[in-house]
Amino acid sequence: MTKPERVKTADVHAVDVNPVDVILAKRRGEAHDRAALDAFIGAYQRGAVADYQVAAWLMAVVWRGMSDAETADLTQVLADSGERLDLAGLPHPVDKHSTGGVGDTTTLVVAPLVAALGATVAKLSGRGLGHSGGTIDKLESIPGFGATLSREAFLRQAREVGIAVTGQSADLAPADGLLYALRDATGTVESIPLIASSIMSKKLAGGAKHLVLDVKSGSGAFMKSDDDARELARAMVRIGQRAGLAVRAVRSRMDEPLGRAVGHALEVNEALAVLRGDARGGAQNALREVVVVLAFELLESAGLVSGRAEVEAALDDGRALTRFERWIDAQGGDVSQLDRLEVAPDRATWTASASGTLRRIDAERVGVAVSRLGGGRAKKGDAIDLGVGAVLHARVGDEIAAGDAIATLYHRGGRGLEGALAALAGAAEVGPPLTPEPVVIEVLR
Ligand code: URA
Ligand code: CA
Repeated sequence: MTKPERVKTADVHAVDVNPVDVILAKRRGEAHDRAALDAFIGAYQRGAVADYQVAAWLMAVVWRGMSDAETADLTQVLADSGERLDLAGLPHPVDKHSTGGVGDTTTLVVAPLVAALGATVAKLSGRGLGHSGGTIDKLESIPGFGATLSREAFLRQAREVGIAVTGQSADLAPADGLLYALRDATGTVESIPLIASSIMSKKLAGGAKHLVLDVKSGSGAFMKSDDDARELARAMVRIGQRAGLAVRAVRSRMDEPLGRAVGHALEVNEALAVLRGDARGGAQNALREVVVVLAFELLESAGLVSGRAEVEAALDDGRALTRFERWIDAQGGDVSQLDRLEVAPDRATWTASASGTLRRIDAERVGVAVSRLGGGRAKKGDAIDLGVGAVLHARVGDEIAAGDAIATLYHRGGRGLEGALAALAGAAEVGPPLTPEPVVIEVLR
């Protein structure tokens, strides 16, 4: 997403809101009404309120919080700050959002799966930042795949194929882009009402009628603590209720990578394995489990299925795979190359230093290792290597012997390898037996 520019107006006093009053009200812990939020954010977007004033207000929000009504109002104001997509003419428009994880290839499977069962996925998707990969980047590892669709082509494809995915547009919730950049620079990212309204404003502007959220917690997640993740999930479900959007939140664990593969082309390969039903056992069943739960919650919410078995059937009988191939083809991707995606040519292994049960694989460190091999961005716009990555050979709960490979690293001529192995040192723990926790923690409706 390109950063939206504020429009500078000559007369900074031509504003029907006194920003200092708004800041003071929040500093005292008062709730703003919709009109005040509308005026304040609108004036900021026009350049009539200064960055430092909004920064002071954001810090007051971090400390004082926001009521449910206020959070829902802020979400609507942000969603109304630009264009709203109108998907109402499409059959069962649905959307999915993940709070971001490592080895999280769910969108590539959930989208064709729900489309195969009658829903429409017309989705604006992001690129990866830091240790998490982005859906658009993964898709671009398929030769020919184009992630830039005109609005007309996007809607036409959504109607004809049931799926269209394009890059995030600066026209959707542009005020959120402005606020986020300011939050990033002022230590005001960590606030449940600010995060919830930021995410949900883009979803409201995206126009779907049913939304499933994959809210992750654990070492590889944006929210490290379970309590924070639950609070965020609840806040987003409540915003949806007030906005007339059917929202369900699936809370899942992100302590170890979700799938076996981390890295763009490698994750497309893994998504294909799940779409082919090769993922019944072993390391891929956590990925399949999250896929099935997310798809079921969306489809049941839209009235398209009544049981999980219907969802699993579309995965196992090839309907989801066929839809995936139609989708890739529609966006210019060469389906004949799906089994031959370019991966980095050189291999290294990350080995266990002791024998016993694998008790922990730190997802964030694995993500950082893949970033260091060239697979991640430090800042927006950086070029990335879609062929590098890691494939894990064991999951938490598996028995392992000293010297066994925990993962194979795919690198190019050793570039970044030393840094990657350093990131992985101590990232796995071996000890007495343990039973792994189920990957899905709970579903909030
Ligand atoms: N993702 C968003 O879109 N917004 C936030 O505030 C945090 C994560
Ligand atoms: Ca994966």
